[in-house]
Amino acid sequence: MYLSYKRLSFVILLVAGAVILCSRCMQPGPGESGDPRGAGYAGMTVCLGCHKDIGSSYLHAAHALTSRVADGNAVAGPFTSPGNEFVYGPGRKVVLERRDSGLFQVAVTAYGQEAHRFDIAVGSGRKAQTYLYWKGDGVFQLPVSYFLTEHSWANSPHYPVDSIWFGRAVDVGCFECHSSFIGTKPMIHTDAFHGTPQYDRARIVYGIDCERCHGPGALHAAWQADHREDVTARYIVRFSALSRQQRLDVCAECHSGAHSGQLRSVFYFKPGDTLTNYFFADPRMVKGPENTDVHGNQYELLVASKCFLRSKTLECGSCHNPHVKERDSLTVFATRCMNCHGGGDMVGMHAGVGASGGARGVSTAGGGRGAGVVVDKQFLIDNCIDCHMPARASGAITMLTQGQRDPVADLVRSHYITIYPEETKKKMAVLSRH
Ligand code: HEC
Ligand code: HEC
Ligand code: HEC
Ligand code: HEC
Ligand code: HEC
Ligand code: HEC
Ligand code: HEC
Repeated sequence: MYLSYKRLSFVILLVAGAVILCSRCMQPGPGESGDPRGAGYAGMTVCLGCHKDIGSSYLHAAHALTSRVADGNAVAGPFTSPGNEFVYGPGRKVVLERRDSGLFQVAVTAYGQEAHRFDIAVGSGRKAQTYLYWKGDGVFQLPVSYFLTEHSWANSPHYPVDSIWFGRAVDVGCFECHSSFIGTKPMIHTDAFHGTPQYDRARIVYGIDCERCHGPGALHAAWQADHREDVTARYIVRFSALSRQQRLDVCAECHSGAHSGQLRSVFYFKPGDTLTNYFFADPRMVKGPENTDVHGNQYELLVASKCFLRSKTLECGSCHNPHVKERDSLTVFATRCMNCHGGGDMVGMHAGVGASGGARGVSTAGGGRGAGVVVDKQFLIDNCIDCHMPARASGAITMLTQGQRDPVADLVRSHYITIYPEETKKKMAVLSRH
């Protein structure tokens, strides 16, 4: 009796197990992806299964690549001599080494060697990349970064210039803007106010993935998989139904500076949420567009511009497609300006350019002023962005490259769209030389 009961329950368990397993393999239900963010999330591989077109461009764009495992493909700088070292001073250098167990930064000094592996690369490789390593459950920044625009290894921003330091613990803010998720553990405190943040290595989602912007999508994925005939999206936030401020908030989460006062981690921000429920406004941050650093503050600068203040529709999506790599295609961006400004007489509107920017008495096509240098429509389109959204030096990101005394500033496009007479002058000077 006892035995047969045991056998029966075993059979029941077996059948139940098979049913559960089977239903799992047929239906990608919530929580089964093992996504570290929890049951609501499906993970990007699932999204890519249906949204192939978006995926194929997105995977090459900055958001996808902004944090990665730092293997040979991810790290931009060279590991072969002579380009593989950064010298801090006599007898003090960091050598960039490729070893069997990975890529390493090796500090070589009179006191011996200290080596740490490149574990995480931060930066898609537009201008700069910086590297992190794991020590226990802490994450630290490596002393040497790579400055792509200078094709040079460089001292990491705000690091001591003459000594080698491996001790900068990385706080969660870095991951909130440069990744989709990292699990945290209690901080190890050195005193009441200071400590080293601790993370869960097994719970990290690199890059800024679909669900970081679109919110949890496991239900959506499961529904669409079961209802292939349904061409309307269910269980996923529709951007078209959001207000302008809600749409802006999705981007402002990471593009409106580092906020000192956080109420809640932005890892949990979903489209449709109100960003001010995550941050509290810090009055010290209000500086006016002329004093706001161009790095990471695209939102603040854009909303101070007349284009934003005097239109009802301008938002990040008016110019950017977040799934596509379009960086530096300045004439493509100019056509987006023309969506609003193309109706009028562009050349006529710029009749004053010769005067305001015309150090050499240049003129516009119709204006007839000066030495006969023609500003035609194509010239305006080609230089539109440089004149109205010039690249400006960031005070926040500066890097000391090899052999230089002064750090080089990163140049970032200003999103304060306005009239910059100095930039116009520069352009007109180039034009009149031709
Ligand atoms: C089984 C197929 C399938 C999977 C998996 C899937 N989707 Fe979709 N998705 C659809 C279909 C069908 C639509 C509706 C047609 C369209 O807009 O392309 C849609 C629409 C969308 C929309 C547009 C919503 C709107 O109308 O504004 C978003 C955003 C979206 N999906 C995101 C995701 C994300 C994020 C994932 C991964 C978590 C995902 N999808 C996984 C099939 C799928
Ligand atoms: C989770 C944080 C986060 C969110 C949300 C986010 N971004 Fe970004 N964005 C970044 C980071 C970090 C970079 C820098 C990537 C790099 O080059 O490593 C970036 C880069 C960019 C770039 C430069 C692309 C390039 O090719 O260099 C554009 C444009 C951009 N973001 C627009 C947007 C827009 C528009 C939205 C809202 C729809 C948005 N971002 C939402 C963090 C974010
Ligand atoms: C940086 C934020 C961001 C990331 C990352 C992102 N999206 Fe989007 N996505 C948007 C925004 C913003 C829109 C709305 C565009 C609009 O209508 O202006 C959108 C629109 C969509 C749409 C509907 C419109 C269309 O273009 O078909 C789908 C589907 C979609 N995204 C799927 C995905 C998938 C799948 C991924 C990951 C491979 C992804 N998105 C990654 C921000 C993002
Ligand atoms: C509030 C969001 C935010 C935080 C916090 C943040 N970043 Fe960024 N970071 C950005 C954005 C946005 C960009 C790209 C656009 C720009 O420069 O304005 C960027 C650019 C970068 C780049 C250059 C990427 C490239 O491809 O050229 C590196 C490297 C970088 N960040 C590293 C870090 C590190 C390391 C930390 C933490 C110590 C950090 N960032 C903290 C938002 C942030
Ligand atoms: C959604 C529509 C829209 C888009 C897109 C747009 N603008 Fe504007 N812009 C406006 C409006 C509205 C004004 C205010 C016009 C007025 O008050 O007469 C304006 C004003 C301006 C001004 C005058 C600013 C000042 O401070 O006097 C410049 C310059 C300008 N835009 C350039 C651009 C450029 C360059 C682009 C593309 C990078 C662009 N705009 C994209 C709507 C737009
Ligand atoms: C009127 C058009 C316009 C709007 C609106 C706009 N951008 Fe841009 N953005 C540009 C142009 C033009 C560039 C320069 C192209 C490039 O360098 O890739 C640019 C570049 C960027 C970059 C890269 C900056 C750098 O130099 O590294 C980021 C990040 C970015 N935009 C984010 C945003 C975000 C976030 C929003 C919304 C708050 C936004 N943009 C709204 C036109 C626009
Ligand atoms: C060579 C530099 C230069 C180029 C290129 C340029 N602009 Fe301008 N723009 C100016 C200057 C300078 C003014 C101010 C003219 C004046 O005061 O007469 C101006 C004025 C404007 C204004 C405000 C007009 C008004 O009546 O207030 C708008 C809008 C504008 N530009 C949009 C654009 C757009 C859009 C493009 C590209 C498609 C463009 N500009 C190309 C330098 C330039």
